[in-house]
Amino acid sequence: MSISIVILAAGKGTRMKSKTPKVLHTISGKPMLFHTIDAAQQISDDITVVLHHQADLIQASIEQHYQDIHFHIQDIKQFPGTGGAMKGVTTQYPKTLILNGDMPLITADSLRQLTSGKSDINMSVIRLDDPSGYGRVMIDECNVQEIIEEKDCTPEQRKTQTVNAGIYCIDSELLNRYIPQLKNANAQQEYYLTDIIKMAVDENRMVAPIYVAEEEFKGVNSKYDLANAEVIMQNRIKKSLMEAGVIMRLPDTIFIDSRATFEGECILENGVTILGESKLINAHIKAHSVIEDAVIDNSDVGPMGRIRPQSVLVGSHVGNFVEVKKSTLTGVKAGHLSYLGDATIDEGSNIGAGTITCNYDGKAKYKTIIGKNVFVGSDTQLVAPVTIADNVMIAAGTTVTKDVAEGSLAISRTPLKTVTNFFYKFFGK
Ligand code: UD1
Ligand code: MG
Repeated sequence: MSISIVILAAGKGTRMKSKTPKVLHTISGKPMLFHTIDAAQQISDDITVVLHHQADLIQASIEQHYQDIHFHIQDIKQFPGTGGAMKGVTTQYPKTLILNGDMPLITADSLRQLTSGKSDINMSVIRLDDPSGYGRVMIDECNVQEIIEEKDCTPEQRKTQTVNAGIYCIDSELLNRYIPQLKNANAQQEYYLTDIIKMAVDENRMVAPIYVAEEEFKGVNSKYDLANAEVIMQNRIKKSLMEAGVIMRLPDTIFIDSRATFEGECILENGVTILGESKLINAHIKAHSVIEDAVIDNSDVGPMGRIRPQSVLVGSHVGNFVEVKKSTLTGVKAGHLSYLGDATIDEGSNIGAGTITCNYDGKAKYKTIIGKNVFVGSDTQLVAPVTIADNVMIAAGTTVTKDVAEGSLAISRTPLKTVTNFFYKFFGK
């Protein structure tokens, strides 16, 4: 862990066309910067994030989830550019790895590779058919000589297909010496971090190009890039879950949050969405169901079920068009068309089709408690707060407005009236 990491995230992200800071746009449920921080934390305990635009918002959101991240606010007016971003940054260890905040697909393994070896600088390079937009890397034998930004290239240099992926691992002492010497005499009048390469070469230092996978080092600059990165991240998540034993029917139609966890043998059918920190244990989620921040333990849901935050299903069956919110169901069957909100339902109870917990009176939410072996008939309304004791039967169509004692029948029904031959009188024979 004797390596410091600096993540550059002060850029404006103009191409994202969004009020949300670029690095807070989410990929598989997590802001893209968090994916980078997660990879960084696997190899370092000295991480600094450089911010400027919307710095307060980004810093607050990082601090909600991480401790011990350092922040540096770039003086972008005086020192614009990636080199300017490094001005005044202090790091703890002999080597510093500099990353971009908009590379959410980077893995800890690749970062490790970039920190290995004996060179004074390792820099990430990619070979691209279309190098446009990137700084071109001039390599002589195995040593990098210089990085030239596209806007500063001669037409000949522009043809170079080896480009700078923008990640460097550098001896911290060299970094501290070079950064104050950077100049902004270039097409963009910015302080380029890339100029440290030439400085190192002029001192006969070793600058090694490390060839990296394009997929991991692609920057996310637009909403189109964001969508493409999402596909790659989803494929990674699903592949590793399937390798761990999760069955997926038509995985391309399934979405899984990076924070969700799976245990035992789970089955996800097509069109399933798993959001937030959901926890699935031997769960069978049928087609087109949505699970959000819920625990599904030895239970099945759907097709077309919706389990919302703070719900816990244990040994239960929840069928089509059932919505469950902030409820605990243990050994329960709720097969069809129900809303179960702020409820606790115990073992052996059956919830008939069309049962609704009326949990909200327009001001506050109230609880419904249903005991063991309760048979709730179809089309029942449970007006909360209400408690149904064990071994109770509720007749179809009942509106329950009072607690029901153990062993009782609850029925609220207008008596049925029939009028003989009414049909023929009305429509004729
Ligand atoms: C930079 C490299 C280029 C490389 C490309 C790879 C320089 C001069 N050029 O290009 O060689 O091919 O990355 O993606 O470094 N940032 C700041 N402060 C700033 C400007 C940028 O923190 O003043 C941050 C951005 O938030 C971003 C990263 O630095 O995370 C890279 O900035 P960006 O403008 O995307 O890089 P380029 O200049 O396009
Ligand atoms: Mg730029």
